[in-house]
Amino acid sequence: MINTNNKTYLIIGGTGGIGRAMVEQLIEATANEQGARAGIRVFATYHNSVPEIEADNLQWLPMDVGSEDSIKQAIEQIKQHSDHLDWVVNCVGLLHTEQAQPEKALRQVETDFFLQNMQINALAGLLIAKHIKPLLAKAARSDEQPAIFATISARVGSISDNQVGGWYSYRMSKAALNMGMKNLSIEWGRALKQTCVVVMQPGTVNTQLSAPFQANVAEGHLFSPAYSADCLLEVLSGMSAAQSGSFVDWAGESIPW
Ligand SMILES: NC(=O)c1ccc[n+]([C@@H]2O[C@H](COP(=O)([O-])OP(=O)(O)OC[C@H]3O[C@@H](n4cnc5c(N)ncnc54)[C@H](OP(=O)(O)O)[C@@H]3O)[C@@H](O)[C@H]2O)c1
Repeated sequence: MINTNNKTYLIIGGTGGIGRAMVEQLIEATANEQGARAGIRVFATYHNSVPEIEADNLQWLPMDVGSEDSIKQAIEQIKQHSDHLDWVVNCVGLLHTEQAQPEKALRQVETDFFLQNMQINALAGLLIAKHIKPLLAKAARSDEQPAIFATISARVGSISDNQVGGWYSYRMSKAALNMGMKNLSIEWGRALKQTCVVVMQPGTVNTQLSAPFQANVAEGHLFSPAYSADCLLEVLSGMSAAQSGSFVDWAGESIPW
């Protein structure tokens, strides 16, 4: 269980498998810290799914990360309630849709699905960063307790780790996300010091995203969303500003680009 320390959090994609588990963990952490409760705030966004979790200090906002206007509107709404955000964790991701599955071979690559992956998995992170910067800039922070801008990426976005191929759109969009966040860490290293920009591999997690692809997961290697969320939050709580620009897994181990 992480120490929430009166922080203000934004979980983007708070109704997904991992995002929802993060919201639940933060609310639980909040409930355990009687006395400090009033100072802790959680904002969370939803897309198509209606949020089921409620708490006094949890506020839901609609956000379609495929629309810059929607991203802007959600952030404007946050600004009406808080002048800062300490942690932003983007848990949105796309691997398959009702119409399309990740490609096994080049002949299956389709423009629309490729661009959809790039928009949701790669571009969205940059647009969120662009509009959320003023709120992160006002977070109280230090080298040891930086503001956090984290995005859930995927190990399959690692170019050097790629041994099996396939999944062109997803792999390429996560590799593009990783480059975007690395670039951002360099820019914010100058403009927004004491902010840690990080991309993360959550493990193989039992969610609707991975459901069609779980058959070959070795026993004991399929994480529950709660376990993954707990590990990711724990890793983030130990991040320093010097670690900005990292690609790490759920255990805090560095992943090669
Ligand atoms: N599960 C795994 O094994 C695994 C492994 C490696 C990496 N990851 C990464 O972990 C992250 C979380 O995945 P998950 O497993 O929790 O998947 P998930 O349960 O499918 O959650 C994905 C979330 O993304 C949201 N989303 C999709 N398109 C959106 C849009 N246009 N605007 C706003 N939200 C949108 C979904 O909301 P709606 O359903 O309402 O659209 C959902 O809340 C993703 O980045 C994924 O790539 C997962």
